[in-house]
Order: sequence, then C-alpha cells, then structure tokens
Amino acid sequence: MKRVPFLLVTLFAALCSTTTARDTVTPTQPLLDNETLVSSAGHFALGFFSPANSSNRYVGLWYNKITVQTILWVANRANPVKNSTGLLSIDSEGTLKIADSSSTVVWSVSNTGLDGSPVAQLLDTGNFVVRSGGGDSSGSYAWQGFDYPTDSLIPGMKLGVDKKTGLNRNLTAWKSDNDPSPGVYCGFMNIRGDPEIYLTSSSSGTVWRTGPWDGVQFSGIPDTVTYQGFSFSFLNDNEETTYSYYIGNQSVVSRLVVNQSGLFQRSLWLWESNQWNFFWYAPKDPCDDYKQCGPYGACDPNSSPMCGCLVQQAFSPKNPANWALRDGSDGCVRNTALDCRNGTDGFVLVRSVKLPQASNATVDTSLSLDQCHDLCLNNCSCTAYATANVTGGGSGCIIWVSELIDIRLYVGAGQDIYVRVAAADIVSGPEQSHKSKTSKLAIALSLILGVLLLALLGCFLWRRKKRRRGSETLGVTASFNDPSNAGAADNHLDLPLFDFGAIAASTNHFSEGNKLGEGGFGPVYKGKLEDTDQDIAVKRLARTSVQGLEEFKNEVVLIAKLQHRNLVRLLGCCIQGEERMLIYEYMPNKSLDAFLFDKQKGALLDWRTRYQIILGIARGLLYLHQDSRFRIIHRDLKASNILLDKDMDPKISDFGMARIFGGDETDFNTRKVVGTYGYMSPEYAMDGVFSVKSDVFSFGVLVLEIVSGKKNRGVYSNSHHVNLLSHAWSLWKEGKSMQLVDESMSYSFSMDEVIRCIKLGLLCVQERPEDRPLMSSVILMLGSDIASLPQPKQPGFAARRGPFETESSSSKQNSSAVNDMTLTMLECR
Ligand SMILES: *[C@@H]1O[C@H](CO)[C@@H](O)[C@H](O)[C@H]1NC(C)=O
Ligand SMILES: *[C@@H]1O[C@H](CO)[C@@H](O)[C@H](O)[C@H]1NC(C)=O
Ligand SMILES: *[C@@H]1O[C@H](CO)[C@@H](O)[C@H](O)[C@H]1NC(C)=O
Ligand SMILES: *[C@@H]1O[C@H](CO)[C@@H](O)[C@H](O)[C@H]1NC(C)=O
Ligand SMILES: *[C@@H]1O[C@H](CO)[C@@H](O)[C@H](O)[C@H]1NC(C)=O
Ligand SMILES: *[C@@H]1O[C@H](CO)[C@@H](O)[C@H](O)[C@H]1NC(C)=O
Ligand SMILES: *[C@@H]1O[C@H](CO)[C@@H](O)[C@H](O)[C@H]1NC(C)=O
Ligand SMILES: *[C@@H]1O[C@H](CO)[C@@H](O)[C@H](O)[C@H]1NC(C)=O
Ligand SMILES: *[C@@H]1O[C@H](CO)[C@@H](O)[C@H](O)[C@H]1NC(C)=O
Ligand SMILES: *[C@@H]1O[C@H](CO)[C@@H](O)[C@H](O)[C@H]1NC(C)=O
Repeated sequence: MKRVPFLLVTLFAALCSTTTARDTVTPTQPLLDNETLVSSAGHFALGFFSPANSSNRYVGLWYNKITVQTILWVANRANPVKNSTGLLSIDSEGTLKIADSSSTVVWSVSNTGLDGSPVAQLLDTGNFVVRSGGGDSSGSYAWQGFDYPTDSLIPGMKLGVDKKTGLNRNLTAWKSDNDPSPGVYCGFMNIRGDPEIYLTSSSSGTVWRTGPWDGVQFSGIPDTVTYQGFSFSFLNDNEETTYSYYIGNQSVVSRLVVNQSGLFQRSLWLWESNQWNFFWYAPKDPCDDYKQCGPYGACDPNSSPMCGCLVQQAFSPKNPANWALRDGSDGCVRNTALDCRNGTDGFVLVRSVKLPQASNATVDTSLSLDQCHDLCLNNCSCTAYATANVTGGGSGCIIWVSELIDIRLYVGAGQDIYVRVAAADIVSGPEQSHKSKTSKLAIALSLILGVLLLALLGCFLWRRKKRRRGSETLGVTASFNDPSNAGAADNHLDLPLFDFGAIAASTNHFSEGNKLGEGGFGPVYKGKLEDTDQDIAVKRLARTSVQGLEEFKNEVVLIAKLQHRNLVRLLGCCIQGEERMLIYEYMPNKSLDAFLFDKQKGALLDWRTRYQIILGIARGLLYLHQDSRFRIIHRDLKASNILLDKDMDPKISDFGMARIFGGDETDFNTRKVVGTYGYMSPEYAMDGVFSVKSDVFSFGVLVLEIVSGKKNRGVYSNSHHVNLLSHAWSLWKEGKSMQLVDESMSYSFSMDEVIRCIKLGLLCVQERPEDRPLMSSVILMLGSDIASLPQPKQPGFAARRGPFETESSSSKQNSSAVNDMTLTMLECR
C-alpha cells in the first residue's frame, strides 16, 4: 500500500525535473549560475563553468550526453565573471548579457529590430541563438553563436567568410587549459586567390595550410574522402566562402579543434570506451610545415633529405651549402631562365602533390585542362597550372603567377600539377619528375640496406641452423614420413587423447546445429567440454577420406609441436576405431573471411584491428618459416584459415597441407598441387614448385584482401576478369592506391600505414619468387618507412586472367567451380 504514494512522488519528481530542463532564456527567466540549458533532444547543454584551476566563471556550451565535459563554445571567452557568480539574461530590447553578482555587465550583444519578447534558445544543433519570441521563426536569427566560434567546429557550423555581413568565422585556440581567452593559434579561411584554410600563430605567422579545395577535399588533407558517414562542404560564391561538415548520424559525436599546441585536431567520441579518439591532426610531419622547402622545392617525408627540387632537371638548390646541412628553406632556382617571348617554354607534370600556396593564383572554373595549358603558356607570369576540380574527370583551371611554395609529395594521393620550365630543361623526358628520381635514390639506398640486413640475418640463421641440424628437425621429418606412425602419435607426441564419448557428448553428437563449417578434410564442430567448461572446436576426419588420413597425420605431427600466439592451439586428438578427430581451442570470432568479405561485419574491423591482424599473421608465418623448431611451409594460407580469438588476434590454422622442409632444401617439387585458387603463387600452381616464397605470395594476397575488403577473385565494377592483384597493381601505378581501401573501414586510419601495407602486399605477390621478400624482411618492412621498401614489380597473374587458363586447359572446368574451396589437383606427368 505504501509503495503507491512513493511511486507517485518519484514519478512527479521525474516529470518536474524534465520540465525544468529548459532550453530558453527569456526576459522573465534569466539563467542563474547554478542552472543549465539543455537542448530539446538533450544533445547539448549550456551554462556557467570554470576551467581547471580557475575561479572565473564563463558561459560555455558542452555535449550533454558524454561523460567528459568538453567545452565547445564560450560566450565571454575574454571577459570572465571574476570572484562571484554570474547571470545570463536577455532584456526586452533583445540584448543578451552576462553580469556578475554586483550587476556589472562583463559581456553583451545587442540585437535590434526584434519584435515581440526576445528569446535566447539553445538548439539541438549546438547553436545558441537569439530570436523573436513570437512563433518559431526557425532559420532567421538576430544573433547566433555559430557565427562566433571559439576553438571548435561542429557539424553544421561554418568556418569562413560571409561576404554580405563581412563576418570571418575562425577558430582560435584557448590560451591555456585554465583560460579560454584567444590564444596564439588561429585557423581561418584565406579567400585570396584560390581559397584555403590557414593555421597561423600570432608569433610566427603561417604554420600550415590545407591546400586549395579540389572539389572533393583539401589538396593537403587527402584522406578525408575515407571518413565514413561524414560529408564535407566547401562553398565559394558571391555570398560566402565557407567550409563545413555534416554527419548523418546524430549519435556520432565529432569535432574539429584548433588546440593550444597549434594543431588542427579532429576527434570522435567513442561511446563504448567513454573517451575521445583523436583520429586526425595536422600539421603531422615536417613536410606539413609551411614553406619547409622554399620556392620550387618539394618536400617528401619518405626521402632523405626531405627537400628536393620540384622538377629535378629544371631546378637546382639555391643555396647548396644549406641544403647539404638539411636546410631546404631557400628553395630552388631555375637552371635555365624561362623564355616566354619565343614561346618555347614547356611543362613538366609532377604527380601526387599538395598544390602550392594559391593566394596569388587565379581560378577559372569554365576552362578545360587544355585551355588551362594555353592560358598559362600565353601569360608570361604564369609558373604552373592544374585542374581546379578533380571530380568528374577534372574541370576548371588554376594558374599560379608567382613562385611556387609549400609543396609536398604524397604516395597514392594528392593532385597533378604542370610546372612551367624552359625548353632546354625538358630534354630528359616530360614525365621525369622529382619523385621518380628520389625514389630511384631510395631504391638504391634500400637495396644496400636490404643486402646488409639479409647478410646479417643469413649469418645469424646459418649459425643457428648449424647448432641444431641433425637433431629435432631430422627426427620429426622421419616420423612425418612414416605413414604407420599415426596411431603412435599419442606416445610419440605427448598429445592428450580425448575419449570419443566425451567429444560426441560435447558436440551434441555431431549435430548440424553445432557444425561450424567444413575444413580441409572434414566437418568442424563446436563443443563444450563438460568437466572444464572449455569451448572447443572439433575437426572430424570424414570416414571415406583416404587422402584425409594423410593430412590428419600430417597436422597432428606438425601442430602438436608448434606453439605461438598466432597459431591455433591443438588441445588434443581422438583416435578410436575409424574415428580421427583433432580438438582445438575454440575461436569465438570465427575466421577472417567472415568479417572481411561481409559489408556489415567489415565495418567492425577498423584499421587498427586490420593492421594488428596483418602483423599477427606475419609473425605466425615467420615462426613457421624460421623460428619454430621445424621449418614449415603452410601451403594453404587464406582468409578462411585465419581464425580470430576474442581479442581479434589472428591465429593461423589448418596445417593439413603443410610441409616440413629440412636444413638444406629451399624448394620442393611436387606432383600433387594443393592449395587454394587465388592464393597460389604462379610457380606453384603451374610447375608444382613450392617454397617459403609461395607462402609469402599467399600472405601478400591476404594483405591486399585485408586492406581492400575484397576477395582476390572478385570481379571489379565494370572491368570484368580483373582480379584484386591486377586491380591493386594498376591503382598503384596510377598513384591512386587509396582507392583500394575498404569503404566499410570506419573513420580513422593512418594513410602511411595503409600505403605501406599495400606496397608490402604488392612486393609479396611479385611474379618471380626470388623478388618476394622473406617473412623476416616483411616484419621489418611493416615497421619501417615506406621509402625504404623497394618498388614492387608486376604481380604474378596480374596480366593474365587466371593460372589455369593459359597453362593447363584440361583442369579448367573444375577450377572455376571450386572457387574458394581448397582444391587438390593432380598433375599428370
Ligand atoms: C540556485 O541558486 C539559487 C540561489 O542562489 C537557489 O535559490 C536555487 O534553488 C538554486 N537552484 C538550483 C537548481 O540549485
Ligand atoms: C591544476 O593545479 C594542480 C595543482 O597545482 C596541477 O597539478 C594541475 O596540473 C593543474 N591543472 C591544470 C589544468 O592546469
Ligand atoms: C577575489 O577574492 C579573493 C579572496 O576572496 C581576493 O584575494 C582577490 O583579490 C579577489 N580578486 C578580485 C579580482 O576581486
Ligand atoms: C579571428 O576572429 C576574431 C574574432 O572575429 C578576430 O578578432 C581575429 O582577428 C580573427 N583572427 C584571424 C587570424 O583572422
Ligand atoms: C566540381 O565538379 C562537379 C561536377 O563536375 C560539380 O558538381 C561540383 O560542384 C564542382 N565543385 C566545385 C567546388 O566547383
Ligand atoms: C549511429 O551511431 C551509433 C553510435 O556510433 C550507432 O550505434 C548507431 O547504430 C548508428 N545509427 C545508424 C542509423 O547508423
Ligand atoms: C593537440 O592535438 C595533438 C594531436 O591530437 C595532441 O597530441 C596534443 O596533445 C594536443 N594538445 C593539447 C594541449 O591538447
Ligand atoms: C628568342 O628570340 C630572340 C630573338 O628572336 C633570340 O635572340 C633568342 O636567342 C631566342 N631565345 C631562345 C632561348 O631561343
Ligand atoms: C603574391 O604577390 C605579392 C605581390 O606581388 C607578393 O608580395 C607575394 O609574395 C606573393 N605571394 C606568394 C605566395 O607568392
Ligand atoms: C597573367 O595572369 C594574371 C593572373 O590571372 C593576371 O593578373 C595578368 O594580368 C596576366 N598577364 C597577362 C599578360 O595576361
């Protein structure tokens, strides 16, 4: 009985408290220091706050739903209420003001021409507006906070110039954590020439610029295209020049900040872990720093020294002594003066650049690239030209009429620019650019380095091999070669034997419901051991499978002795009558292919996870190839054989096809080609020759699949018969590798890492086995600069349609049918 009134009271209180959370300030209802406004859907809150270690009171705006108070906007950032409580009010004339307890006004904005009783309202977009009280005149505000940003840009807010009102909305960093007043750094829209956003420091001038807008993104932030769910807008017309962004999903909380360290920073709130993820910032590397390499210099973060001349054969360092000291700021000068009058000048194309500072450039959106060429050639001040808008095949024209400064190079991103040079300097080929020369140097350097490393590694391995040859390796090879040995596996291998009854019970008598899939030689079931409650995966050898028995023995012998965090762990086996079973630890996240090739689940694999998976597979494979007590070639590495544990750590599984190779052997020749279409290296599929390099090939295919989220045999958009390898290869050659990246990969990834992985993948799938790196170098390359990686050559099969179509037409009909299943093919000799 007593509960009812109590319930009513709490219900009443709840109702009361929701109705008191208002979103407006009116002449009759000001905002007290201890109150907050909450927007109608509860996304934002506004009220008084004090920064850390400060007693000053400010009116600020923050996200209402996240647990870390993040101030997005401050009204009176330079005029705090000191030593007292504040009051935010609006009077009947529409003047919004902040006063202290002695009624001294510290901050105010007056709004004339308001009819009816004025209202200040916090909208659900995060905009704090002043409008007329009568009716909901949404859209027309007498004043809005969005026009006076502090340090943050949130969706819907504009950064830039309103040409009618003359407002230039900029982002200025806080002075310090305990003082929101304008600090040193400011991000603003520069509308001279081709507009772009600049980051400046009040003490040292320009720090960084975004580069001009290319129709899709800023020339100097070439990875924004990949931000899932974000859309970016750049308006440049007679009324405004503004930048803004939108996020379709209101639960995605993200902001762009100019922070006190002098960086543009984009963050994303992670609801699962209740923290901010700072997924992008700029300037990021020395090449982002403004004018790092001076006029006509180009900065390449992956080369050493970073500065080079924009066109190697046409320019030389102005001050060679400083360049030798790694100071490129004087830039480059022409080898031959331009000769405009005689009309002999020409252009050199430089690819993948951040366009030079464009404040003196001229844009004409109506011109084509050819017209742009003519315009530039006929104007003696013109130094370079480029496409203004890259969408739809490119349109519009930018011409530069002063020195070209602040240029950097990208790998697989950025824009093309045509640089004017004298006829005499074009000789060595118009396509010859700074880039290709530096990369040649890089190859030469990395080759020398690579040889040294290999020599060291070889020396190390040779010494290790010498120590252990003849003992374990030979012993196990013998047992592996002895077919009568399987029954003796238990006493020979120290492997727990499970009771058939227990396994049957744990898998619900091998019911269909427990079936996880079909492995190399039979079905795999999920089970739970009764005594320990442990989840297991049971691989049951199909009774009819003669060849399966071989593989079963093989797998038992091999994997029982292997232990590595990136190899699946065998818990035991079960041999009873005709039954042969292997019992593994159960992997709750199944196999990689289930994630990778599924649109929805693919989104769960962010770049961090994918990179960890690549690294894990590489480590597992390195262990197999050289670090384990035996040296093993897996022969059937593919996405479905990579299992994922609860932390998404990869584990290589399915050793049914694996082979041990002895001390002196480097490759084998087999009459029986086993493996999976799409992952098999050319020399193996065609000639039956396999070596560690065949695994490296499969690894390369996997890496490209992980980056792209596409199967190697997948058919691409319009061009049929193009496999992933040739697709990746052609994108690489065109410098458009970023287009390979999986669209479902959410928000953040490091462009450097992605490009490095693509390059590495291509190195691993090169046609000639001797060109492919060993797994030990792969691990090194994963952790090194992209420039130190050699340039990949054409992948195996890239030019052809498939391995079987050219060489052995007899086996063609069933190879297409098996597609992704492991295939076993007997070659007739
Ligand atoms: C805020 O403070 C005033 C007095 O300063 C008090 O009357 C009022 O109850 C307080 N409101 C809340 C929500 O604490
Ligand atoms: C606030 O003061 C404490 C103690 O002086 C100091 O440890 C802390 O770093 C300060 N916090 C900020 C944000 O300045
Ligand atoms: C604020 O109050 C403190 C102590 O109450 C006093 O020492 C200080 O001078 C006051 N500051 C201002 C600006 O009034
Ligand atoms: C940024 O805006 C503020 C306020 O409008 C203005 O005082 C300041 O000069 C601007 N800074 C730059 C670099 O434009
Ligand atoms: C770029 O070109 C596309 C189509 O070619 C057009 O829709 C878009 O508005 C252009 N963007 C700019 C900024 O001019
Ligand atoms: C919106 O984002 C939230 C949080 O990231 C997510 O849980 C939700 O599924 C998303 N909604 C839609 C419609 O995408
Ligand atoms: C500014 O942003 C960068 C990059 O996210 C970060 O490393 C740095 O700590 C930030 N500085 C401050 C003061 O928050
Ligand atoms: C350009 O023409 C002038 C006169 O016609 C001639 O003297 C000069 O040598 C020419 N320059 C070049 C680089 O051909
Ligand atoms: C733009 O032109 C002005 C005047 O000619 C010059 O002083 C300035 O250095 C030029 N800016 C750039 C980036 O070249
Ligand atoms: C060259 O182009 C610039 C920028 O468009 C322009 O100001 C100048 O008048 C042009 N010069 C000639 C000779 O056409």
